[in-house]
Amino acid sequence: MSDSSTFKLLGLPGSLRKKSVSRAVLHSVKAALPANVEMTIFELSEIPLYNEDLEADRPAAVRALHDAVAACDGLVVLSPEYNHGMSGVLKNAVDWVSRPGYNSVLKDKPVAVLTTSESPLGGARAQADLHKMFLSTVSRIAPGREVSIGGTGKAVVDGKLVDDNVMKRILTLIDSLLREIRLAQGRPHGRG
Ligand SMILES: Cc1cc2nc3c(=O)[nH]c(=O)nc-3n(C[C@H](O)[C@H](O)[C@H](O)COP(=O)(O)O)c2cc1C
Repeated sequence: MSDSSTFKLLGLPGSLRKKSVSRAVLHSVKAALPANVEMTIFELSEIPLYNEDLEADRPAAVRALHDAVAACDGLVVLSPEYNHGMSGVLKNAVDWVSRPGYNSVLKDKPVAVLTTSESPLGGARAQADLHKMFLSTVSRIAPGREVSIGGTGKAVVDGKLVDDNVMKRILTLIDSLLREIRLAQGRPHGRG
């Protein structure tokens, strides 16, 4: 966790491919954050498929993810939409860190939820899945205007988010996330 004026965020991209739009957007957001906010982007490529038999001796990558979630002030989760739902890669990772049920490192953890898709809907159906999932983990979803990033063929060029309006909406959601972190941690309510 951080002192009262700084924020440590953990970004989780829900796609593994090299040219992922989700990862590109997270990196663009990381570069645009205010000086007192830092974000580490955690790649989920080493996380194995969930297997409850492995709970007693969790794989190293799962332990690393667990520790990163525990240590951060808030999560920024960006999922593509696949077949009208959220990314299975992300769901699998959350399943690992969601134990023990209702009392895991995700409990009370503030989370900003974003989705991407080439379609104009921007992954709105994946948004609904993410909300449902983070309710089950007793996390604190940052409230505000939904950020479903559509038309990504134009909004993301050469691995960078170039649509200023989309960036503005994301930073407004990040502001909401910081407010949620302050509330969750009992920090003073002013900026910073
Ligand atoms: C298997 C598959 C299923 C997809 N299903 C949907 C879908 O249901 N709705 C949608 O809007 N986009 C869908 N897409 C498009 C992806 O959301 C889009 O390609 C997204 O950019 C992928 O994320 P990434 O760039 O971070 O890898 C699908 C893509 C794939 C590969």
